[in-house]
Amino acid sequence: MLHSKIAGIGHYVPERVMTNQELSSLMETSDEWIQERTGIKERRYARKHEETTTTMGAKASRIACERAGISPDEVDFIVFATLSPDYYFPGCAVLLQRELGITNREAGALDIRNQCSGFIYALSIADQFVKTGMYKNVLVVGSEMHSMGLEFSTRGRNVTVIFGDGAGAVVVQPTEEDNKGILTTHLHADGTHAEELAMINPGSHGGYHLGKDKFNFPDTEFGEIFIYEGIFENRDIYPNMNGQLVFKTAVVKFPEVIHEALKKTGLQASDIDLLVPHQANLRISQFVQRQLGLSDDKVWNNIQKYGNTTAASIPIALCEAWEAGKVKEGDLVCLAAFGSGFTWGSALIRW
Ligand code: UT7
Repeated sequence: MLHSKIAGIGHYVPERVMTNQELSSLMETSDEWIQERTGIKERRYARKHEETTTTMGAKASRIACERAGISPDEVDFIVFATLSPDYYFPGCAVLLQRELGITNREAGALDIRNQCSGFIYALSIADQFVKTGMYKNVLVVGSEMHSMGLEFSTRGRNVTVIFGDGAGAVVVQPTEEDNKGILTTHLHADGTHAEELAMINPGSHGGYHLGKDKFNFPDTEFGEIFIYEGIFENRDIYPNMNGQLVFKTAVVKFPEVIHEALKKTGLQASDIDLLVPHQANLRISQFVQRQLGLSDDKVWNNIQKYGNTTAASIPIALCEAWEAGKVKEGDLVCLAAFGSGFTWGSALIRW
């Protein structure tokens, strides 16, 4: 029976470092507040007009392909996870195909919009395609350019200080070895709190979910865009987050979905060699670590350097851990994420 494995991994973060001190000059915040509540010291911002979500994804992808021993032209399917795409449409997967110079027109390209759990969803999709024998080289990418869409003012500070830019990618290939590669993936969703961590404008909702009168949505005719009066003046085009609700839900769902994966495979938390949690907040990761009873050397965190890079955070962290020699042949690696939607998921990988 075929299984799928991660055959190559790469990441890219932009050079430009944005420190907490620098953010403090743009809004009412402080290095102390940010570090105490989130663990973040600095994050990276892409070079505007020169870098995009796609170009960062391409840099990570080239490294992943090289390490997997394939040329980009051998990729037969792309899954691209992002919430900050270059265009409203088409998605980044086709832009990445072009950027990598992939001439194989048999290759499919899929974008997924699952925010913080985007990489786990993307990996699970790749896993299904590979183990059924449909594709042999699936390129899975998580990339974000948050810096172009954040509100650099005190009003947006609870969101803005958290997020950073970057990209990570893996190549998923088949293997016939038993107990090797992706052992299991688990995906979940609950749309009840969709607006509690969201960027809702511009969109086609026209006030439907929000109370049309409250937001002064116009009675537009067909062909008109639902952009209500004041959308720019009110700065209603930025992401918003109910941080406390997200935090409280995350600390329940992270351990739950990890235990689900362990149960499915008959393994214990003590079998995990490395946990790579989505880098949402260092306090969340530490809480999950305590719940699972893992020692510090069994959890990889890099939010201190990069902030929360959403769909890119797991592949960046996994790549750094691998480069540091923390992921060895035969190790049990656990990935887990929770975020906007709400959506959450986990994956267990025998490296
Ligand atoms: O990847 C998944 C997506 N996101 C997450 O996982 C985030 C989960 N949530 C969190 O990480 C935390 O909720 C935050 C870090 C976002 C916020 O921390 P908190 O301890 O939950 O703070 P809070 O929202 O309850 O706000 C406490 C105070 C408020 O002031 P008042 O009302 O007490 O006077 C905020 O206005 O902190 C204020 N505040 C800030 N102060 C300085 C909010 N953001 C900032 C800031 N700098 N950046």
